Amino acid sequence: MFTEYILENRTAFISGGTSGINLGIAKGLAKLGARVCVIGRDLTKAQKAATEIMAESGVEAIGLSADVRDYEAVEGAMKIACNRFGELDIVIAGAAGNFFAPAVSISSKGFKTVVDIDLIGTYNVFKAAFDCCKKPGSSFIAITAGQAVNPMPYQAHVCAAKAGVNALLKTLAMEWGAAGIRVNGISPGPIEGTEGVERLAPTDEEKNAIIKKIALRRFGQAEDVANAAIFLSSSLGQYVTGAIFDIEGGFQLGDSSMDCLSPTR
Ligand code: NAP
Ligand code: COA
Repeated sequence: MFTEYILENRTAFISGGTSGINLGIAKGLAKLGARVCVIGRDLTKAQKAATEIMAESGVEAIGLSADVRDYEAVEGAMKIACNRFGELDIVIAGAAGNFFAPAVSISSKGFKTVVDIDLIGTYNVFKAAFDCCKKPGSSFIAITAGQAVNPMPYQAHVCAAKAGVNALLKTLAMEWGAAGIRVNGISPGPIEGTEGVERLAPTDEEKNAIIKKIALRRFGQAEDVANAAIFLSSSLGQYVTGAIFDIEGGFQLGDSSMDCLSPTR
């Protein structure tokens, strides 16, 4: 279905693209020809990610430091990317923070920290990108999570922040569609080897208990999420906006652990 360099001459800006799922997305886009700029708070980690992306794809990548809670810092990083690569075609707001704690143990500052990174950070990235992106023709993608729609104990702050992200991306899809900007979301399920899964299920026992409940009986891979980003970022997704793709093997359908393939129970 994909031609070899379907994203050639495109430019991607990826907040939180320095590790985990977002780095997987950055690598997926770069392998199909897009030049990428990844940002995170840690400059050394960002530069290492850019080096890895270049080594694997052979295309240009830059890694910069910017905290998504700081609008000027995000705007500054985006200007550097645009000066180097030209207008942005693909903008991915993926930076997030999470910790597992019951609401009684989360201070007001702790709650605000996650809302600031996930929700305000997504707004900051999209808002700053509006002026630097190709119009018409850009694809904006927010990385959200199942907690946005399914309440989860120990995740009050993340549920609230990601629900806001879903509402924001749909609103921007309506406001910016006339400028030719598509705004979508990707909601990954548990993705193997990521910080998110390590925080959700630190032990093998906890990981196996989750896998048993997933319809497809495995954790996702970063590449599974990257494939959805490639679809949305390329011309294949040109009539899709305001959508949220669940890339989660059926995880959110509910507990699929019952044996339903034997003739009788
Ligand atoms: P991760 O590896 O911890 O990646 C988080 C990224 O965000 C890193 O690049 C981190 O770099 C950056 N970051 C964090 N705070 C930041 C800030 N204030 N400003 C700028 N950058 C910041 O996480 P992950 O588990 O792969 O998750 C990636 C995305 O997928 C998140 O949006 C998450 O909510 C979503 N998600 C993950 C899963 C999962 O299974 N892991 C499931 C559903 C949804 P620095 O630390 O250097 O800042
Ligand atoms: N339980 C309760 N509160 C917690 C907590 C926990 N496990 N971890 C952090 N907090 C609170 C802190 O106590 C603090 O509030 P306080 O000063 O009132 O006590 C507040 O959150 C901010 O913590 P701080 O460490 O200063 O924030 P930070 O900006 O340096 O880091 C985090 C942000 C906490 C989200 C951190 O975990 C992080 O950097 N995460 C990025 C990676 C990540 O989460 N990846 C998974 C993505 S799904």
